[in-house]
This record gives sequence, structure tokens and C-alpha cells, in this order.
Amino acid sequence: KNIYVLCGGRSPEHEVSLVTAMTIINGLNKQLYRVVPVYISREGCWQPLEPVTHELASVEELRAQTGSTVSAASSAADFLARLAADGDGGACVFPALHGEYGEDGTVQGMLELLNIPYVGNGVGASAASIDKTMTKKIAAAAGIPQSEYLYFHRQDWEQEEAQWCQRIETLIGYPCYVKPAKLGSSIGISCCANREELVVAITEAFRYDGKILVEQEIKGREVQLAVLGNERPVCSVAGEFVREADFFSYEKKYESGTLIKRIPAKLSAPVYEKLRAMTLSLFRALDGSGLMRTDFFVTDRGDIYLNEVNTLPGFTKNSMFPVLWEKTAGTTYTQLLDRLIELAME
Ligand code: DAL
Ligand code: MG
Repeated sequence: KNIYVLCGGRSPEHEVSLVTAMTIINGLNKQLYRVVPVYISREGCWQPLEPVTHELASVEELRAQTGSTVSAASSAADFLARLAADGDGGACVFPALHGEYGEDGTVQGMLELLNIPYVGNGVGASAASIDKTMTKKIAAAAGIPQSEYLYFHRQDWEQEEAQWCQRIETLIGYPCYVKPAKLGSSIGISCCANREELVVAITEAFRYDGKILVEQEIKGREVQLAVLGNERPVCSVAGEFVREADFFSYEKKYESGTLIKRIPAKLSAPVYEKLRAMTLSLFRALDGSGLMRTDFFVTDRGDIYLNEVNTLPGFTKNSMFPVLWEKTAGTTYTQLLDRLIELAME
């Protein structure tokens, strides 16, 4: 069976995707699958690479192959035409992509139309989870508690900057977090302590997205849970990050090893049960399939607030999602990939 691993992509999470994809490519059982990476450039060119038969040593090795296949398909349409020409009916696509044009339902919709099986969430769940404001509305309807927040579009801001600052200060106050609506990996996110910082942070966030949200800070621990399944989803134990700094910046999250995972997270049984129930009801409410990682804040009093949902969570060997499954069920990384492909073919 051919597994096409889509990697890179047009979102600012391009590099994170390459690391995720490299680990997935290495983890896939080569006895079972012919593994074909498909590199998507930042500009959106699609380039199927040579099948991988050995362990990739680094992302550089993956990157080195790009640009070398001269007759490479250059767009999504060319790639799909190639799949059709190959008569590759048994293929499965693994969108190892984070962020927009990958984790947002666009790629999923294309594959859906062409009847090509793919790993993970469908169009609806992907689209609803990529935009944090959409996720919040669906989560609120499902009774999941959240911090105070406001969202607005670039035009609203440009017309009424002072009024928005006023609203933010009245409803949310400082410190608050400013986030682009559709980005992951902490990109474009700032924590603000006053109006001056707020204005700078909002301007920065608008570089990435035409819609942003401002959230109240929750003083608490960041706790994450993982879901696997389609109709009968199962939930992992909870994991938490023991923080060294106040906030994980993009660099901290991926480049320095300062984050310590504690699995299972130190939680009372009732809090853990609530987190599990919320996770499964979110998966249902968002119409999830395959996998999902739900991120919460838990305060010292045991109050729970939703942070966000990831439909294609970070997937390196060290990432929370695979580690949660290893600790929950002894599932190895390779077994986890087999399971996801199984779920994609259901
Ligand atoms: N968006 C990144 C990959 C994550 O949350 O895991
Ligand atoms: Mg995230």
C-alpha cells in the first residue's frame, strides 16, 4: 500500500510540519507500506519525492530531495492526476500538515471529493478546530468552560482601535493573550500587561491572520489529552507540562528542551474524569475522526478551562500525543501510525 505523507505546506507551521512528517516517515512500517513523501512548498507547489526505504537522519535529508525530481508534479491537481494515472486505488494520504491549507479542511475536502482515504479528521472537524473562535462557540454549546475572550477582524480594529482596547480592558483586563485565530505552535501569540503591549501584540497577530482573539489569562497548568478512534473514540490519560517559564514561546516549544512532561498529570480523580468527559464530548461536538488532542488549563482549585483543540497535533516521538498513547496503552509510535491508517480506511 502506498502512503503519501504530505509535509511542509503553506502555513507558518511549515517547519514544524517537516519535523512531524520526518518522524512519521521514519515510524511507518516499511514492510507494510511504500512511503512516499509529498513536499508542499511555502508557495503551495506539490512535489512527490522518492519513496523512503531507510531511516531519515534529519529534516535536511528530506529537504535535500526537493527540487531534484524534475518532472515533479507542481500543484495539488498534478499530484492527484498522478494518483489517478497510477490507478492507485489502495493509496492512503497522511496529511502531516499543521495549520492552514492542511489542518483546516481544505486538503481534506479535496481528498474527500476524489474519494481518496486520508488519516485524521474530516472537513467539518478540521475547519471548526482550526479557528479558535469557532472552536470556542462549539465548545460553549457543548458546555465546556472557557476563559473570557473577544475576537475581531482587521477592519473592525482599524476603524475602532480605541473602542476595542476599551472593551478588552473592561471584559478581560491584563494580563491577556493575543492570538491569531487560525495559527498553532504559539506563532504570533503574545502575552500583554498593558495597553501599549496590547496594541503592539494585536498589530503583530494581524500579520498572520485577518481575525484575532484576545483571551483572559488563566493561572493554571496546561493539561492535554489525546483521542483515538472514529465512532467509538477512546481517550488517553492526561499529560501536563511542568513549566519553567511563564509561557512557551515558539522557540521554547520546539528548540530548547526546557519543557518537562508529566504523565499522568497530577490531578484528582474527579478533575481527571471531567477532563475525559469534556474531551470526548468535544470530539463528538466537533465531529472528530481519527485523532484529536485537547488542551486545557486546570487551576489550583481544580477549575477547568478549554485552551484549544488540535486536529493534527505535533507528532514527533517526543510530542505529547504519541507519548500519551505510549503511557496510556503501551502503544508504540509505529503501532499508533498503523492504527491511524486503519481508522482512515474504516
Ligand atoms: N500546532 C502544533 C503542532 C501543536 O499544537 O501540536
Ligand atoms: Mg497548538
